[in-house]
Amino acid sequence: MKILVCTDGSGQSQRVIEKAAQIAAGGNVEVTVIHVYETSKNGPYRIEGNETLSEELNRQLIELKEQEKEKSKKVLSEAAKALEKKNINVKTLLKEGRAAETIVRVAAENEFDIVVLGSRGLSGLKKMFLGSVSNAVLHEIKASVLIVK
Ligand SMILES: Nc1ncnc2c1ncn2[C@@H]1O[C@H](COP(=O)(O)OP(=O)(O)OP(=O)(O)O)[C@@H](O)[C@H]1O
Ligand SMILES: [Mg+2]
Repeated sequence: MKILVCTDGSGQSQRVIEKAAQIAAGGNVEVTVIHVYETSKNGPYRIEGNETLSEELNRQLIELKEQEKEKSKKVLSEAAKALEKKNINVKTLLKEGRAAETIVRVAAENEFDIVVLGSRGLSGLKKMFLGSVSNAVLHEIKASVLIVK
């Protein structure tokens, strides 16, 4: 891999150089793959005592949620497999919640140095350069971000 390091001689650019050096040094890198299972997109589900949904509809929704969760596990295990094939040791994290919020929280709690994500994802709408997840992560996260175009 070739890395292009951009500097303007500023203090910020010193940090850019430091980060590039860390990436180039390679050595002691720990890779974790995260997938956030987005509950908010798959609700609402009836909670105990809520009579707004019929028994049947509620059962179907719960079944759908289970199927979605299985898909999420597959996404994660396939990503891990792809990395393991390249002899990279990898940890996996399956989280439930809002994607951007969860990624930002997990990165902070575990002190990740660099977060890698795509400019866009599953959505077909390509009007904006960044998707809502990459946009929110980029704005809210403390860690450095690598946006893959
Ligand atoms: N649920 C998720 N879990 C983990 N990473 C995610 C998740 N959703 C998106 N990402 C990361 O964010 C990147 C950008 O995806 P994003 O969802 O922002 O774009 P989009 O799907 O094209 O647009 P949108 O979801 O806003 O309609 C993805 O390539 C991926 O790296
Ligand atoms: Mg998306």
